[in-house]
Amino acid sequence: MRVKPLFIIISTLSLFLAVVLLSPTRPVVPSNSSDSPNSAKSEIWNVKRIVEWRPCNWWLQSHLPPLPSESNGYIRVNCYGGLNQMRRDFCDGVGIARLLNATLVLPKFEVAAYWNESSGFADVFDVDYFINKMNGFVKVVRELPPEISSKEPYQVDCSKRKGQFDYIESVLPSLLKYHYISITPAMSQRRDRYPKYAKAALCQACYSALRLTELLEKKANELLEAIPKPFLSLHLRFEPDMVAYSKCQYSGLSSTSMKAIQAARGDDRNPWTGEAAQIWRNRGKCPLTPNETAFILQALSIPRSTNIYLAAGDGLMEIEGLTSIYTNVVTKSALLSSEDFETMHGNTKAALDYHVSINSDSYMATYFGNMDKMVAAMRAFKGLYKTLFLSRRAFAKLTAEGLEGKALMEALWKAHKDDFIMGRGSALSDCFCEFKL
Ligand SMILES: *[C@@H]1O[C@H](CO)[C@@H](O)[C@H](O)[C@H]1NC(C)=O
Ligand SMILES: *[C@@H]1O[C@H](CO)[C@@H](O)[C@H](O)[C@H]1NC(C)=O
Ligand SMILES: *[C@@H]1O[C@H](CO)[C@@H](O)[C@H](O)[C@H]1NC(C)=O
Ligand SMILES: *[C@@H]1O[C@H](CO)[C@@H](O)[C@H](O)[C@H]1NC(C)=O
Repeated sequence: MRVKPLFIIISTLSLFLAVVLLSPTRPVVPSNSSDSPNSAKSEIWNVKRIVEWRPCNWWLQSHLPPLPSESNGYIRVNCYGGLNQMRRDFCDGVGIARLLNATLVLPKFEVAAYWNESSGFADVFDVDYFINKMNGFVKVVRELPPEISSKEPYQVDCSKRKGQFDYIESVLPSLLKYHYISITPAMSQRRDRYPKYAKAALCQACYSALRLTELLEKKANELLEAIPKPFLSLHLRFEPDMVAYSKCQYSGLSSTSMKAIQAARGDDRNPWTGEAAQIWRNRGKCPLTPNETAFILQALSIPRSTNIYLAAGDGLMEIEGLTSIYTNVVTKSALLSSEDFETMHGNTKAALDYHVSINSDSYMATYFGNMDKMVAAMRAFKGLYKTLFLSRRAFAKLTAEGLEGKALMEALWKAHKDDFIMGRGSALSDCFCEFKL
C-alpha cells in the first residue's frame, strides 16, 4: 500500500525530468562521444570500440606437446635492418626453428652500415630471461657444442624469395646435411601451415620472452619518468631518406628540407610527377608531414595542450609544423643527459622509443612500419588500446577531393573513428585474436 504514493512520485519526477531533458529549449550539452569533431569536446579515444585484439589463448595457455628428444640441428637467425625489423625476423626464425625441430642459437644482429651500429642481441635483450621464457617452446642454447662452434653456419637466405614456399621442403634438407645453418626468414611465408606448437614458439618469443637488458630498461624507465603525464607517444616519420624513398613530392617545404631530400634521392629515386604522383599519393604512399599530422590530430580532437613524446629519429624535418600547434612536445635529446644521448647507438635509441611507446597512455603513428606494428601488438598484449595509425590514404584522398578546413576535419574524424572502433591495425600478427566487446 505504501508503495503506491512513492511510485506516483517517482513516475511524476521521471516524467518531469524527461520533459526537461527533451525540451528543445534546454541548453545544448556537449556530448563526449559526439560524432562531429567541431562540437566534440572529447578525444577520439572516448569513442566506444566494438572490437578488441587480445593475445590468443592457444598460445598463452597452450598445452604444448613435449619437445622432440632429437634435434635436427642448430639454427641461427641472421637479422638485418633496424631494431624492429631484426626483431620481427628473429621472431619468425624462432617459429621456423621449432617447425624444423631444431635447436636455436642466439641470433646475429647484423650491423647495417646505414644504422652505424655495434649493438648485438645481448646488448639489447635480456638473454637469460629469453632462454627461461622459451623453456618448453623451443630448445635454445647460449653456446654451440665445441665440435660445431668453430664452423661458420651454412647460409640459407630466404629473404629474397617471392611468394609462398615451405620451410620443411626447402630448408630442412640443408639443416640435416650441414647440422648448423643460419637463416634469414622471408617476408612472405606460409605460417598458416605451421603446426600450433611452432606458431606458439613464435608468439612466445616475440611478445613474452623479449625484454630489454636491465641496463637499457633502467635507462628507458628514467626517460619514461621524465615525460610529463599523461602523454601521447607520437611516431613521426619525416626524415630526408624516408621522403626520398617514398618518391613523393611536397610543396611548401623549406629550402633546407628540399636540399636534404634531394641529397637523399641520389640518381635513382626520382619522385613521381603528374597523374602518377596523385595516384601514388592516393594509395597512401606518402609520409605525412608534421604539419599534416598536426592537422589530423586536431581533427581527432586531441587537445593542443596534450603532452606529446616524439618517438622519432634525429633527422625529422619541418617539425615546427607540429610544435607550432602542439606546444608540449618533448624529445629524447631534451630529456636525456647529453652524455647519455651522444654515446647511444641507433638501436639503443630505438629500444628507448619502443619502451616508452608500449608504456604511454596513447600511441599514434604516421606510418605503418616495423616499429609501429611491434608497438601496436605489444600494447594490445598489455591491454592498452589507445593506439591509432593516422591514415595517409584518407588524408590524400580527402584533400584530392578538394576538402579543406572544417569539412576536411569532419571527414578525417569519421575515417579514423571507424578504424578505432574496429581496432584496425592495432594488432596484426598471427598471435592475436579478435574479441567482440
Ligand atoms: C563520457 O561519458 C560517459 C557516460 O556517457 C562517462 O562514463 C565518461 O566518463 C565520459 N568521459 C569523459 C572523458 O568525460
Ligand atoms: C618434429 O617433431 C614432431 C614430433 O615431436 C613430428 O611430428 C614432426 O614431424 C617433426 N618435424 C620435423 C620437420 O622433423
Ligand atoms: C659512426 O659512428 C662513429 C662514432 O661512433 C662516427 O665517428 C662515424 O662518423 C659514424 N659514421 C656515420 C656514417 O655516421
Ligand atoms: C600547415 O601549413 C599551412 C601552410 O604553410 C598553414 O596555413 C597551416 O596553418 C599549417 N597547418 C598546421 C596544422 O600547421
